[in-house]
Amino acid sequence: MLDVGELDWVERDWVDWHQLYDVPGSMLARRLATVQDRISDALDTALPGPLRAISMCAGQGRDLLTVLERHQRGGDVSARLVDLDPCNVAVAWQRAADAGLKKVEAVADDASLIDAYDGMVPADLVLACGVFGNITDADIARTISYLPALCSPGATVVWTRHRRPPDLVPFVCDCFTEQQFELTWLSDPAEQFGVGVHRFAGRSQPLPQGERLFTFVGQKKLEARASSRAGSTSRQQRGEDRD
Ligand SMILES: C[S@@+](CC[C@H](N)C(=O)[O-])C[C@H]1O[C@@H](n2cnc3c(N)ncnc32)[C@H](O)[C@@H]1O
Repeated sequence: MLDVGELDWVERDWVDWHQLYDVPGSMLARRLATVQDRISDALDTALPGPLRAISMCAGQGRDLLTVLERHQRGGDVSARLVDLDPCNVAVAWQRAADAGLKKVEAVADDASLIDAYDGMVPADLVLACGVFGNITDADIARTISYLPALCSPGATVVWTRHRRPPDLVPFVCDCFTEQQFELTWLSDPAEQFGVGVHRFAGRSQPLPQGERLFTFVGQKKLEARASSRAGSTSRQQRGEDRD
């Protein structure tokens, strides 16, 4: 069981993190452009009429807001961007206001709680970007298992996951398949980042209340735990940990 002191959220400056997007050609800048293109594709093919979108751990919303600002369907989209960092939320809120996106709300809330999405689901577009690299494998599967309660039939989910070993992108895809999602787009495996797009081919489930989707551990902590486990295994193999 994790305690709050273990959580990366309290350690990392998630406002500064966004500056990496401003470095031209950087991995994060390329990932952002890829995510924006996928969101744009989803809007291109969306049915006419009002649309709903949610973004988990939305940060400053640079992915969704940039597309809504420039896409002809942007005004059709009601959206909720959920992030714990009040500064990021303020940036997203101001940007949406400046762009005249009146149906977009940015809220300072815990995106891991399913109640955070109440009233904005089932959604036509779900963003889980910058999430799967920061939570355990079990929580990736758990979060995806709740997506049928967050998605409308035919909904698009855009997600990201880094490609560092062990590359979990195939695992993420398997989790989606188990929940009746079809893969519609996947980034080149040669890229350092993974971006995937899945379409929901099942029936929406009722929204359960009070459920936790994940615990945001943080990438550095996850990697430290994995290498400590690997070190302990290799010590055991060398007999160093024997009683
Ligand atoms: C890697 S950034 C991703 C931001 C954005 N989705 C993107 O891709 O540009 C992770 C974000 O998760 C937020 N965060 C961490 N734990 C959270 C939680 N439990 N609920 C909501 N946001 C959280 C952080 O504040 C940070 O903005």
